[in-house]
Amino acid sequence: MGFAAAGLVEGGLRILQLTEDDQIWSVLVTRRNGQLRAFLNACPHQYLPLDFAGPNILSADGATLMCSMHGAMFAIEDGHCVTGPAMPCALTAVDVLEKDGMVRLGAIRW
Ligand code: FES
Repeated sequence: MGFAAAGLVEGGLRILQLTEDDQIWSVLVTRRNGQLRAFLNACPHQYLPLDFAGPNILSADGATLMCSMHGAMFAIEDGHCVTGPAMPCALTAVDVLEKDGMVRLGAIRW
């Protein structure tokens, strides 16, 4: 599963569908300071997609993702919850790699 790296600019966000073990997962992919980060699009508070109640889930500075349902906020660096009802949990990371102009998703880090 992948897409052209040019489709994810600095501070950008893509939401993709990843198929693994016959299940389909929604995955968030961001780029901050040139580094890609990917997480399952599932808030650990009630396991709803972060964009369940609205599309604006990435902070203006690209440092945090916010769950649109109850406002839990997660650090882009490692997905840990920094405030809100999902504390002390974290988003589930997904391996992501950029190579030859493509962004490719890998394993889910349960
Ligand atoms: S479902 Fe995300 S904060 Fe409640």
